[in-house]
Amino acid sequence: MRILVVGGGGREHALCWAISASPLCTKLYCAPGNAGIAQVAECMDVGTEDIAGQVALAQRLKIDFVVIGPDAPLVAGMADGFAAAGLKVFGPSKAAAQLEGSKSFTKELCQRHNIPTAAYERFTDLDKAIAYINAQGAPIVVKADGLAAGKGVIVAETVDQAIEAVRDMLAGNRFGAAGASVVIEEFMEGEEASLFALCDGEHVLPLVAAQDHKRAFDGDKGPNTGGMGAYSPVPILDQAMFDRAMREIILPTVRGMKAEGVPFKGVLYAGLMIDGNGPRLVEYNCRFGDPECQVLMMRLKSDIVPALIACADGGLNHLDLRWSDQAALTVILATKGYPDAYKNGSEIRGLAEAGKVEGVEIFHAGTKADGPRILANGGRVLNVTAMAPTVEEARARAYRAVDLIDWPEGFCRRDIAWRAVGRKP
Ligand code: AMP
Ligand code: GLY
Repeated sequence: MRILVVGGGGREHALCWAISASPLCTKLYCAPGNAGIAQVAECMDVGTEDIAGQVALAQRLKIDFVVIGPDAPLVAGMADGFAAAGLKVFGPSKAAAQLEGSKSFTKELCQRHNIPTAAYERFTDLDKAIAYINAQGAPIVVKADGLAAGKGVIVAETVDQAIEAVRDMLAGNRFGAAGASVVIEEFMEGEEASLFALCDGEHVLPLVAAQDHKRAFDGDKGPNTGGMGAYSPVPILDQAMFDRAMREIILPTVRGMKAEGVPFKGVLYAGLMIDGNGPRLVEYNCRFGDPECQVLMMRLKSDIVPALIACADGGLNHLDLRWSDQAALTVILATKGYPDAYKNGSEIRGLAEAGKVEGVEIFHAGTKADGPRILANGGRVLNVTAMAPTVEEARARAYRAVDLIDWPEGFCRRDIAWRAVGRKP
């Protein structure tokens, strides 16, 4: 099969790495890709969000199967664009991608199907939103209804912060149309985890879970980011908790979407909050997590291609995936300044040496080749990923590789997997 992966981050590098190992794949393309992806796929210069351009590219390259990595094109309807052109595609339709693209769509679905999540109200009127915040008190969570590049969630510790957030969104046009409607919800306490399941619209094939680190600095301090590291397995999602999350959250969602005429086909990523009462849904995403995908691909022993195809064709119930019982962990190297302003173009050295550390794979998230030189080209730049029999050893291997990378303009967290290291299983 000739396969095209849409995207150009660390998630897409990990997907390309896994797909390129499949005997089913005869030729792999990635658009736009990056300098690391170019080692396993032929990169094509078409933007991630250019639906017409990606469809034309796939037709020109005679692609048999397309895998869409990021959320923005899915929410904008890229899967529908490929389907309309008669191409087989991994990724949900625009209608099903509302699970990520509209917070109120998901909250209403949860309500109709009794899926445990935070209590909430949706507002478009500023005065009513402020009255609700005053009545509820803090802490409280304010969310732009639409996609806001991961920045639309404000966990407010005080009533004033919450009011400022709704003012920014409803009166100040902070997130444009995405913030013209807001969801205000109960603050949930607990430990977060990411659960992934492949779906073919009807059947579900659970993958393994991972845990992300959203804050920029050690000790979960600093601003929110796209994710500064991840690891798998996750102690808090033991088999019993995992089964409960499948039964109480994922299965009713997939059944509900089918019953309501918007079957979900692709990977469903549930952000969970877990406390003594069990798992609750924080949010859904309609694609693999980045950087969670990197640790999932490291642990996956089976060929991923048949599983991705089954999401499009149906028949996931006849498939089984095998996973390594080792731990995988990834450390993000980001450009200093990220998630705020930063400069592209600094040179990264030592990648070849770092890649030789036992059990290590280095996925590129934002790089560009300049002849033989590798330059930083993004906020999140590298995902130094390691596997080992224990999370402690995986962490030691990953940081050994990190320390061999010579890139003064970059930074990373030094405490990835702190919740799991030293914890009894
Ligand atoms: P999201 O963009 O929905 O993933 O939200 C970003 C982060 O905000 C989540 O990973 C949580 O840490 C936090 N968050 C979102 N909703 C809630 C909530 N209801 N209670 C507590 N924390 C939340
Ligand atoms: N790692 C968080 C995300 O992919 O949304």
